[in-house]
Amino acid sequence: MKIGVPKEIKPNENRIALTPVGAEVLKRHGHKVYIESNAGTGSGFSDTEYKKAGATILKKAKEVFDTADMIMKVKEPIKQEYGLIRKNQVVFTYFHFASSRDLTEAMIKSKCIAIAYETVQKEDLSLPLLIPMSEVAGRMAPQEGAKYLERTMGGRGVLLGGVPGTEPANVIVLGGGIVGTNAAKIAAGFGAKVTIMDNNLYRLRYLDDVMPKNVTTMMSNPFNIREAIKTADLVIGAVLIAGAKAPKLITKNMLKLMRPGSVVVDVSVDQGGCIETCRPTTHANPTYVVNDVLHYCVANMPGAVPFTSTIALTNATLPYAVELADKGWHKACTENHELKLGLNIINGEITYKGVADAFKFKYTDVDEMM
Ligand SMILES: NC(=O)c1ccc[n+]([C@@H]2O[C@H](COP(=O)([O-])OP(=O)(O)OC[C@H]3O[C@@H](n4cnc5c(N)ncnc54)[C@H](O)[C@@H]3O)[C@@H](O)[C@H]2O)c1
Repeated sequence: MKIGVPKEIKPNENRIALTPVGAEVLKRHGHKVYIESNAGTGSGFSDTEYKKAGATILKKAKEVFDTADMIMKVKEPIKQEYGLIRKNQVVFTYFHFASSRDLTEAMIKSKCIAIAYETVQKEDLSLPLLIPMSEVAGRMAPQEGAKYLERTMGGRGVLLGGVPGTEPANVIVLGGGIVGTNAAKIAAGFGAKVTIMDNNLYRLRYLDDVMPKNVTTMMSNPFNIREAIKTADLVIGAVLIAGAKAPKLITKNMLKLMRPGSVVVDVSVDQGGCIETCRPTTHANPTYVVNDVLHYCVANMPGAVPFTSTIALTNATLPYAVELADKGWHKACTENHELKLGLNIINGEITYKGVADAFKFKYTDVDEMM
């Protein structure tokens, strides 16, 4: 199969959908890989490395789209790319269709096979192609929090781990899923005093077993949260209720209980945020202040560390990409239920119920299209 990887052109997106190692693996499986020139530069991978891996470099995005049977991307196609996608072409990327009617209509019109990373799902309901980005954002959260706790950045001037003879910083993590677990682990590694709050007792039991001594677990409820934030230096929002907006665990009024110069990093901002005063920010302008509390609410945190994010993403997507390339989308999705759940649009028909429902478009059962 011919696999094409164009350069990401969404503003501030430096990731690429395939590493040189990924290109080499696909090549070994007998496939041809076409990379747009400089597509890997933002992630630290040069055209030369891709060439060494056996890929062909093409100058323009149009050439990549025209050549490839399957396009691999990171972000959803944007307007300039809509017209480049053609009938029967497989497009394997993050789509997040429900957040864009324009994109959904464009992909219907193109009659492509749209396989969305975010809906590929394992039997245990986990989302294997979303996990790597939650891991990255979770591990970044204490790093960003530590930075903004510095006095020169507007914080209260607390060192996360403290030093002998001083109290370490007090870090509260709301939500103990992928983001929360990774955040707690890193904050604990820095030497902070960490509390993870979740409303799932089974999850708390597990975390209590695996976390180091400087991490405490606590049931998430308004009373415990109110008490905990009074002495917090850093609060990390990492809550998710699948398919719904994040619950507002810290209201505007509760925020007044927090100390001046303390920091909130709301990773769940992409689902509306679990802190009422949070609104999405960008890497160019990541923070703002409400009631003397610094807010960091960047909606695409992994974009700041494209080298790590690209490798983490490829580690997860590559086995699926290889299966799609080896078998063709139809056989691969018939034989692998996880991939089948990734099918969002086939030949102009919406085959993922959540997407059809979002815009009251016609839904076609995926099995009818197979
Ligand atoms: N900003 C970014 O760049 C970025 C990157 C990756 C993920 N995210 C977002 O981070 C959020 C968390 O993702 P995840 O992968 O960790 O999800 P997850 O499903 O693994 O974990 C969510 C956790 O929240 C807990 N929870 C639900 N309601 C709660 C409540 N009332 N109080 C306390 N805990 C509660 C759940 O029990 C679960 O353990 C999502 O919104 C995700 O989209 C953002």
